[in-house]
Amino acid sequence: MKSEINSEYPSVEALREKAKKRVPSFAFEYLDGGCNEDVNIIRNTAEIRDVQLQPRYLRNYKESSTKTKVLGMEFDAPFGISPVGLQGLMWPNSPEILAKAAHKHNVPFILSTVTTMNIERASELTEGNAWFQLYNPVEDEVRNDILDRAHHAGCPVLVLLCDVPTFGYRPRDIRNGLALPPKMSARNIMQILGKPTWAFNTLKYGQPTFETLKPYTPEGLNLKQLGKFMDKTFSGKLNADRIKPIRDQWKGKLVLKGVASEQDTEDAIKMGFDGIIVSNHGGRQLDAAQSTIASLQEIAPKYGDKIEVMIDSGLRSGPDIARAMASGAKFTFMGRSFMYGAGALGNKGGNHTIAMLKMQFKQVMDQLCCERVEDLPLHLVNNQP
Ligand SMILES: Cc1cc2nc3c(=O)[nH]c(=O)nc-3n(C[C@H](O)[C@H](O)[C@H](O)COP(=O)(O)O)c2cc1C
Repeated sequence: MKSEINSEYPSVEALREKAKKRVPSFAFEYLDGGCNEDVNIIRNTAEIRDVQLQPRYLRNYKESSTKTKVLGMEFDAPFGISPVGLQGLMWPNSPEILAKAAHKHNVPFILSTVTTMNIERASELTEGNAWFQLYNPVEDEVRNDILDRAHHAGCPVLVLLCDVPTFGYRPRDIRNGLALPPKMSARNIMQILGKPTWAFNTLKYGQPTFETLKPYTPEGLNLKQLGKFMDKTFSGKLNADRIKPIRDQWKGKLVLKGVASEQDTEDAIKMGFDGIIVSNHGGRQLDAAQSTIASLQEIAPKYGDKIEVMIDSGLRSGPDIARAMASGAKFTFMGRSFMYGAGALGNKGGNHTIAMLKMQFKQVMDQLCCERVEDLPLHLVNNQP
């Protein structure tokens, strides 16, 4: 079989560099940036990379398998695609590109409530395997309707987001006047003119819109209006009363995304969640937050046998995935890495990025002489004095 990997782009960093050249800067900066002074986004990756692993060369080792079970399902590798909003703005058609690639490679794709493809299309492209991320709607009817649609689309997992009680403070987006559809300011037009493939594809696929929310949204919102609409329509402020009706209605697996503390993990267990994603939204919400690997190191040993503990934020490579799994995660997700792939390589970006990360991760397993993903914690170097 012809390799899906383009040897010009053997790393996420190479994909990021290429994407930067092809995506207008207002959209690239929305994808790439953290919040405030970018402390948390940098800390996420830096602290994951402090985790060290130890090989066992002389053990009786046959071959590694990257197959991984989580939430009662088996995937070909221990990573999936995090939900990302406004994807079509960063690369036209990117949610379709990534959903198809995830399905082909048997890894999970999580659809954001506020992305540019709807639940029904995600389900069609993944034969009912897409997970759905819910921003909690204020109106019970909107919530029930979205849950019904996700159920009818066959989504096996509902991912409830808890780390957006307020919009993150993102200086680049404020300066760029980020909007959907993009604002035609002189500056943005200049940026678009400099990125002809992006512009051509935007014409081809049409202006991106919030497809899942179409039945409930007024058209043409700029960032400020979007913030207001989101505040009015969704309440990121979650508590037991808001979560109970979701748990009661949703019969599939329920995952809480954005957990960063032991207390929230305990509450999630009490409220009947099946899993959590330890996440800080890729460093986009609280610049003073700890890295997710630090949160995971506190949460996984204490609660890992009571709830499935997954992680995202800051992972960019096969070794990063292995570091997180060795630190007690049952599964990992990445957001930007796949979007860089789509921005860099368009229709081929999803398959390329997944195949590349799989290859990188498998190499780490083979190098460690680790046969099964669940044995990775045995290779963790204990750095504690
Ligand atoms: C551009 C962008 C948009 C995002 N939109 C959403 C969203 O709509 N819903 C959500 O749950 N998380 C969203 N996230 C957070 C991601 O799901 C994920 O937690 C984060 O990207 C992980 O960090 P990483 O990009 O370092 O892998 C977004 C992240 C980015 C970069």
